[in-house]
Amino acid sequence: MSFKGEHILSVKQFDRDKIQQVFDIARSMEPYAKRQKRTTVLEGAILGNLFFEPSTRTRVSFGCAFNLLGGEVRETTGMQSSALSKGESLFDTARVISSYSDVIAMRHPQAGSVAEFAEGSRVPVLNGGDGANEHPTQALLDLFTIEKELAASEQPIDGMHIAMIGDLKFGRTVHSLSKLLALYKNIQFTLIAPNELAMPDDIVSLIENAGHRVTITDQLAGNLNADIVYQTRIQEERFPSQEEANKYRGKFRLNQDIYTKHCKSNTVIMHPLPRDSRIEANELDNDLNLNPNLAIFRQADNGVLVRMALFALTLGVEQLVSKYEREV
Ligand code: CP
Repeated sequence: MSFKGEHILSVKQFDRDKIQQVFDIARSMEPYAKRQKRTTVLEGAILGNLFFEPSTRTRVSFGCAFNLLGGEVRETTGMQSSALSKGESLFDTARVISSYSDVIAMRHPQAGSVAEFAEGSRVPVLNGGDGANEHPTQALLDLFTIEKELAASEQPIDGMHIAMIGDLKFGRTVHSLSKLLALYKNIQFTLIAPNELAMPDDIVSLIENAGHRVTITDQLAGNLNADIVYQTRIQEERFPSQEEANKYRGKFRLNQDIYTKHCKSNTVIMHPLPRDSRIEANELDNDLNLNPNLAIFRQADNGVLVRMALFALTLGVEQLVSKYEREV
């Protein structure tokens, strides 16, 4: 099926066939991402990379993915350096930038803002995170990582057990990932969060109505015996004050000692990153860095592959990538 010209705004756009199509293309991108092969399939194309909220890996990996396909990147970062801070509408910004670009990636602090922007855009728009709402490309790379990591022990996604930990209220990555996992069969979800930061009811209902088992708890101990442990950061930028966020930072730390005592010997540890390494938070301790089941950096690497696949698909060049190979 064709994605050409489609915006990627929400994981709701995907079914299992579409997900596998993205993953098949993502796997085929590996030699280009590893610099074993080079392609110029997007030579002459421009990515408008618009990040109105802080980002390291999403912004840079979108840019790298586009460069690796032979395209050029023009970007703006921060609200204050954009005309949005002078009162320009998202629609006007979209009309202008979409005539400069062939595709746009965008992050914005308001839920729904990327969809609003897409209404004014003449080219495909990829949502790089809109407030606490969704982060669809992160969810796809998370699922791609889960599939790859479980494949090492010949385990499918169907039937797996995932424990999601931390700020499940404001963490958009767990919202999007839960919606994608709901498309699979017989998943056990253990949702570990302070009561005030629990997974929103609509997402819990969605996964329960899809036939999955859900355990909701505010206790870490005894609930980590999962195939995947997906840790998250307290999203302090979404709290009314720093003091309010501080009440929850440091509540659910995961370190090697806790891993040894409570996880399975092959439990895969994931985190969308950034992990908050400040002493008062430290939700994923550096002493796990040598644990071979710590998948956080493999997860970030997979982001380039998945974003390359999404650019190729939305620009309709997925079948042409190898045709435009050049000498390395
Ligand atoms: N995972 C993620 O969205 O990271 P950045 O905020 O660095 O883009």
